[in-house]
Amino acid sequence: MIRFSENFSLKQHNTFGIDASARFYFEFTDPADLYLFTQSNESWSEEPVLVVGEGSNLLLLDDYSGLVLHPNIPGISEIKEDRQNIWIEAGAGETWDELVQYAVDYGFGGIENLSLIPGKVGAAPVQNIGAYGQEVENVIELVKGFDLQTGQPVEFSAVECEFGYRSSIFKLKLKNRVVITSVVFRLSKFPEFLLGYGDLEKKVQEKGAINLRTIRQSVVEIRKSKLPDVKALGNAGSFFKNPEMENAVAEKLKAEFEHLPVYSAAPGKSKLAAGWLIEKAGWKGFRDGDAGVHEKQALVLVNYGNASGKQIFDLSEKIKQSVFEKFGVVLEREVNCVAPPDFPAGEE
Ligand code: EPU
Repeated sequence: MIRFSENFSLKQHNTFGIDASARFYFEFTDPADLYLFTQSNESWSEEPVLVVGEGSNLLLLDDYSGLVLHPNIPGISEIKEDRQNIWIEAGAGETWDELVQYAVDYGFGGIENLSLIPGKVGAAPVQNIGAYGQEVENVIELVKGFDLQTGQPVEFSAVECEFGYRSSIFKLKLKNRVVITSVVFRLSKFPEFLLGYGDLEKKVQEKGAINLRTIRQSVVEIRKSKLPDVKALGNAGSFFKNPEMENAVAEKLKAEFEHLPVYSAAPGKSKLAAGWLIEKAGWKGFRDGDAGVHEKQALVLVNYGNASGKQIFDLSEKIKQSVFEKFGVVLEREVNCVAPPDFPAGEE
């Protein structure tokens, strides 16, 4: 199935609920549709492209003047197995949390801590989703996609995806050039449970047994207690990344602010909790018009109704500025901010 529209409203296609539109919009359910589409000589085939799944990590600063591609490719299938693992291929258009539910129902481990993360399967490798000690890069075997520049299908092994913290080749070098069509995950039939993050273990133990189901339930409960439901309150999860820095810099800050949460990161590096920094800079629960900072998790910016993308973005700039003034730490946005070409702040 394909659907092509002009001046298409994206309000239902971004979890911030920003009322912006796409000059051209193309939705498809089969990778072959994309091939035929790109062979077209129509004027829109030359437009800049933005790939949008569920739009759960997206802030639109204005109407998008190019072409939005929406891969709605379905399907979850088991493609091979051995004694230890099973390989599952999921279409880019599958809802991420439904894939987690499927894995947990069948007893396959590796993504249970990633329960309830909003978004589609195709977006999972793009920003290397992670939560409660699990990162999706650890279970990705292969990413299949379509290269808009060469007009050819492409495949990437996990190494070729160049995964980093909330980052991959698809977010950097190949941004909006490769459209992910499906992902092959290597899940475990004998999962090792990861319960080390925060009070996850305590929560799971309260349920009387440690298994994939109780872990999923616990993660869902923790997320629901802290993170706003996108259906009730527009947001895109963590707006900023947790900043990474040399150990020595983090230790100096810790000496000054003893309650600052510091985590070990890459060798020689530490990560700080951006939510803590933002809260201590006084922003938690802040609201200006319809743009605000969530009252339970300061890393999440929210749209109370009719905020524009620009208002949310301006708020994020003020937060960055104030965290820098108070702590000397530069916050980096995690959300994909899409701005018109004449926008000054170095965004797309
Ligand atoms: N904290 C505060 N105030 C706040 C928010 C957090 O003091 O307003 C403190 C917490 O008390 C805790 C620490 O900061 O000590 C970390 O908080 P939390 O466990 O809520 O996690 P996070 O570091 O804020 C990251 C991910 C989330 C993920 C959680 C759990 C990033 C950018 N965010 O948040 O991912 O769910 O860990 O693993 O890495 C997302 O990416 O959209 C997202 C929600």
